[in-house]
Amino acid sequence: MSDKPVTAVIVGAGHRSLHYASYSIAHPDELKIVGVADPVARRREQVAAKYQIPRQHWFESAEELANQPKMADAVINGTMDHHHVPTSLPLLRAGYDLLLEKPLATSETEMRELARTTADTGRTVLICHVLRYAPFYRTVRELVMNGAIGDVINIQTTEHVSYHHMAVGFVRGKWNNKDKCRSSMLMSKCCHDLDLLAWMKSGISPSSVASFGSNMYFRPENMPEGAGYRCLVDCEIESNCLYSARKHYLDHPDRWSFYVWDTLEHIERPSLAQKEASLKADNPYGRCVWRCDNDVVDHQSVAVAFADGSTATHNMVGGTARPSRSIHLLGTKGEIQGVFEDSRIIVRHIDTAPGCEYTEEIIDLNETGDMHGATGGHGGGDLRLVSDFVNTLRGLPRSISCTSLDDSLAGHSIGFSADRAMEEHAVVNLEHS
Ligand SMILES: NC(=O)c1ccc[n+]([C@@H]2O[C@H](COP(=O)([O-])OP(=O)(O)OC[C@H]3O[C@@H](n4cnc5c(N)ncnc54)[C@H](O)[C@@H]3O)[C@@H](O)[C@H]2O)c1
Repeated sequence: MSDKPVTAVIVGAGHRSLHYASYSIAHPDELKIVGVADPVARRREQVAAKYQIPRQHWFESAEELANQPKMADAVINGTMDHHHVPTSLPLLRAGYDLLLEKPLATSETEMRELARTTADTGRTVLICHVLRYAPFYRTVRELVMNGAIGDVINIQTTEHVSYHHMAVGFVRGKWNNKDKCRSSMLMSKCCHDLDLLAWMKSGISPSSVASFGSNMYFRPENMPEGAGYRCLVDCEIESNCLYSARKHYLDHPDRWSFYVWDTLEHIERPSLAQKEASLKADNPYGRCVWRCDNDVVDHQSVAVAFADGSTATHNMVGGTARPSRSIHLLGTKGEIQGVFEDSRIIVRHIDTAPGCEYTEEIIDLNETGDMHGATGGHGGGDLRLVSDFVNTLRGLPRSISCTSLDDSLAGHSIGFSADRAMEEHAVVNLEHS
């Protein structure tokens, strides 16, 4: 065990890796940021200024960093989905341990290549399954591990992606088109939930997957009469439209700002007028949602069978009023149910006492104090994950949420198989896929 801070290089100085790197500010004795690699000069300079990184530790890409003698213990890899594996392979070969964003790969083939290289190089790769670290899901997992509901027969999870999140991410934004980002909506949005299914059934492999879904709503044929190409330029119905760019991004100037105002990054605090001009000109977030280049689904259902005969379903629905995630586990002795955003978990036990059917116990994390530190990204999961990464590299005890790369493969395999099952209208058998 080392008592020195883990040293790390930020690779992909975007909004996710900067968030993880901020752990080093609160915990300088645990993590020190010593380098940055990003093709965008402005982002390199901003990070270098924030962490006082000397010029010789600025790199234009992961590949350039990997070609230099090893200069840190680890890398925080927050590049986009399709860059995860191509950037990680040379870094693993150069001897870096990795904190790697999800989805860890964009295909089953890429995923296996990463797993092989990780095993061959003997490095540690921790995937950012941040929901595992949120007190809500950690508590559910503890209940399952402690046998609170006996053997798990069935798990039902949902993710409802709000209308504004759907539009910014999957209609107008970075994950709207498979040729562009090479991830499906299921993999980029719900690989967390599929990981949770696999985690709750830890040690039992998923065996078969079926899936249905489509892009039902955000299609040109659903365009209302009077709609234009850009909300603030040629749309006659903008003031009545639920997807008006003005309502989403100007009336809520901070919502999704790291995506929408990306092209205004060179201006320290863009004014409302500058933002409006950008939405009118070439900002992709100013486009009509019925005239975008989106080809990903807006909803998808996944059914999974596990090797022990148990089953699970996950329903992803985009365009909802309230963003939410839910989980319901049914076991041989009882059930666990909860909505992530409510931070309340209901545990029901079969009760055969006269006059009784079941007993109910409510775990309210708001009241038990377990929400300490849980207000940050993903219910507090983001920075708890960094803490486990640091502890892993320092040889210190880790939380029950900590995964090995092998653990992460099960949830990702469900996702890749589900997309194949949906496209081919088939049941995919994971053992033979
Ligand atoms: N864990 C979560 O819950 C969660 C939430 C949101 C996003 N994500 C994932 O985080 C990842 C990053 O998303 P983001 O919005 O922060 O991305 P971003 O676009 O803000 O940042 C990516 C950065 O990578 C840089 N880059 C590109 N090629 C590079 C290379 N070869 N070497 C080094 N840097 C390179 C880009 O210039 C950019 O600055 C995505 O995969 C996304 O799916 C995860």
